[in-house]
Amino acid sequence: MITILGIESSCDDTAAAVIRDGVLLSNIISSQKVHESYGGVVPELASRAHQQNIIPVVDQALKKAGVNKDELTAIAFTRGPGLMGSLLVGTSFAKGLSSALNIPMIDVNHLHAHVLAHFIKEDKDDNSQPQYPFLCLLVSGGNSQIILVKSYKDMEIIGQTIDDAAGEAFDKCAKVMGLGYPGGPIVDRLAKEGDATKFKFNKPHIPGYDYSFSGLKTSFLYLLRNELKKDTDFIEKNKVDLCASLQKTIIDVLMEQLRKAAKDLRIKEVAVAGGVSANSGLRAAFEDHAKRFGWKIHIPPFGYTTDNAAMIAMTGYFKYEDKDFCPMEAAPFSRVVM
Ligand code: KG4
Repeated sequence: MITILGIESSCDDTAAAVIRDGVLLSNIISSQKVHESYGGVVPELASRAHQQNIIPVVDQALKKAGVNKDELTAIAFTRGPGLMGSLLVGTSFAKGLSSALNIPMIDVNHLHAHVLAHFIKEDKDDNSQPQYPFLCLLVSGGNSQIILVKSYKDMEIIGQTIDDAAGEAFDKCAKVMGLGYPGGPIVDRLAKEGDATKFKFNKPHIPGYDYSFSGLKTSFLYLLRNELKKDTDFIEKNKVDLCASLQKTIIDVLMEQLRKAAKDLRIKEVAVAGGVSANSGLRAAFEDHAKRFGWKIHIPPFGYTTDNAAMIAMTGYFKYEDKDFCPMEAAPFSRVVM
């Protein structure tokens, strides 16, 4: 029996999960509320909150799983990328617990884990996992990438943003409309009532599979600036249409490159991961592509799209099977290395 405790502390969620023989037993997340009034994550506050939350969160994950500490086989933790102070809390905790229990420690790349979230099983007979090779669109607040996944440890980034991430485009445009933070979910909600054809924004034309969202952001900003000169209530009057048009443009941009990659590489198995995959319009676009192009799509349940420890434990489980352990002197990395 292989029982892995996963720990995630890369940004503003303190999370712990237990996976036994590939099946998820518990998945606990404590989302930090302290950042809301700042309109973004404050790194110093995030590390302090992780420090406060990590013991209770791990405790709860073990209790919910019905697993005792001494039944753990290994501890998997997020080594990066992320905020250094936040990562240090999870890494130090993993070191302490694994040395106290004398069990291996497994370092996990947070971005790999987002992709491997598709392999989390809540029930041992679930066989819906993707087949290799598949494409994964990873879209979050910090990343927009198309990844060619050849195995759990062989992933190639074939396209990525050259400036802003898709989540940032949602958040920054929402901010200029005064919608609150994070803006993505708010835009998603308002877009449902709006007309997506009302406004047109710049779309990039980039060869290959890379993305760019800075032109869209500028064109959104210019439209608001011009219209507000004529009518100071412009945003309020057009909020839902602005959200619907913005969301449609972001999704069109994301799907266009993904479609190109799937066609060129002749891959029909396509997955989506990361915080923005919670977007209802993006989910609908995936369903539509499944119908139109015969894609076999993989959309994770909402709980596995944003930061969580189930995906860390899942990746840890794969690495455990390969006996791919991490030395005690390992330090976190804040920047992307894939
Ligand atoms: O993966 P994630 O939780 O962490 C970061 O990378 O930060 O992604 C967060 C991002 C934010 O930009 C948020 O606005 C966006 O995901 N997001 C959404 C939705 N839910 C979260 N964007 C659009 N529609 C949503 N429903």
